[in-house]
Amino acid sequence: MQNRNITLFGFMGTGKSAVGQILAKQLDRTFVDCDAIIEEREGMSIPELFESRGEPYFRAREADVAREVSERQGLVISAGGGMVLDPANVEALAGSGYAVCLRADADEILRRVGHNTHRPLLTAPDRHERIEALLAERESRYASIPIQVDTTGLSVADVARRVLEAIGN
Ligand code: S3P
Repeated sequence: MQNRNITLFGFMGTGKSAVGQILAKQLDRTFVDCDAIIEEREGMSIPELFESRGEPYFRAREADVAREVSERQGLVISAGGGMVLDPANVEALAGSGYAVCLRADADEILRRVGHNTHRPLLTAPDRHERIEALLAERESRYASIPIQVDTTGLSVADVARRVLEAIGN
């Protein structure tokens, strides 16, 4: 595995941050959350950023972060759920190491994100419908990630184990 980065892709609520933190601890690596970097730099939360600067601005900052972290090594990276929308992000991050996509279906995602208001793209009258629509829209992007891990019904620790198995550790 050497020093190759491990990037976790996947839809909102698939456990990227929770799993990434456990993996980083187990592997004694630095954990990097792309959304958190953007929030820190911009001095505001993701919903505030979407509200004040708009989604295209957020996506441009997301691309900056993808490029930057890809130039580092030995990281466990949690990519935002929409990082897959720009193939250049996937290329950069996958090129720096292992690219893993965490999967869950709409029911499970809804259970996990609950009524959390930190996800501007999920503010819809029918959140289940919204999640299904976004999942369908993005399916080919998520499917393009080389390593796929189904998280349905698994604990965070179990998913971390599956990721390690999948990358041959
Ligand atoms: C987004 C996912 C979010 C965050 C932003 C947009 C998306 O990250 O980047 O709200 O487009 O799927 P998480 O997947 O960490 O919630």
